[in-house]
Amino acid sequence: MHVEYPVSRPRRLRRTAALRRLVAETRLSVDDLVAPLFVREGIDDPQPVASLPGVVQHTRASLCSEVAALRDLGVPAVILFGVPDRKDAVGSEAWNPDGIVQVALRDLRDEVGDDVVLMADLCVDEYTDHGHCGVLDGHGSVDNDATLELYARAAVAQADAGASVTAPSGMMDGQVSAIRGALDDAGHQQTAILAYAAKYASALYGPFRDAVDVEIVDGGDRKGYQQDPPNAREAMVEILGDIEQGADMVMVKPALAYLDVIAEARAVVDVPLAAYHVSGEYAMVQAAAANGWLDGDAVGMEHLLSIRRAGADFVLTYLARRAAELLGS
Ligand code: PBG
Repeated sequence: MHVEYPVSRPRRLRRTAALRRLVAETRLSVDDLVAPLFVREGIDDPQPVASLPGVVQHTRASLCSEVAALRDLGVPAVILFGVPDRKDAVGSEAWNPDGIVQVALRDLRDEVGDDVVLMADLCVDEYTDHGHCGVLDGHGSVDNDATLELYARAAVAQADAGASVTAPSGMMDGQVSAIRGALDDAGHQQTAILAYAAKYASALYGPFRDAVDVEIVDGGDRKGYQQDPPNAREAMVEILGDIEQGADMVMVKPALAYLDVIAEARAVVDVPLAAYHVSGEYAMVQAAAANGWLDGDAVGMEHLLSIRRAGADFVLTYLARRAAELLGS
């Protein structure tokens, strides 16, 4: 009997682990990881976050040891989020020189110097008593331009405290140029900006809000300032606008539900492109793994690789430490 065999035989190159390694188009390395970390004011012991298994609100001391451990594993960067004792209408702890993130940045400067890139998330939602990412106008919506002044102050406070990168996440129009101007005026020309450029109003941020004790007043949401999930072309307007305003790096967030946006952004921009594998993306994997429904490590690594394959240069992920351990073993 004569059988027609296919001419092309891709399976030849899948036969052994070494062959697969040789022909891998995308690689995930420890160099691609940024660890998001929470630091809380006024606690004596790290506090677990129920909806983010394995993630804690750090004390100043436990934050230092975690960052030292990440450095030893080769993770190049961390991004800090603060959980303050005191919240007010404008979020003034965000620029208080003794606010929790500023204090933590100084601790980390002493602990790791320039061995780890110290990034600070720049927003006021963790610091406002109403939970919005800016100051409210008389009608309960966020006043864009009044908020820019607050972001400018917070950026300078973070740079003064030792941040190498400030990462504005509030999605106010013009936030990057406002921050760049304030940093330059304060002599911080070398402080870089990682813009959360295409950040969607996503339901995947739920566990994060537990981690930072944020509840939006009156059951509100961020749909008036974060991007609407149906819109991908609009993301390019946001991204190109942020680059024009002086962003050194841009981000798409969340990651997996927006891989198309990452791929499109990669095709359009040449600056470093980040993606945020957010709290909900992490929590779903952990919950399914805890039920024995899937292999958490394997799915987590597949997620991160997919984000790289879509075109992101680096990934902000709660899996950073675990992934670094797996990559190093
Ligand atoms: C705002 C901010 C948020 C996240 C990062 N920065 C929350 C929000 O926009 O409501 C979410 C990150 C995550 O879900 O992991 N400061």
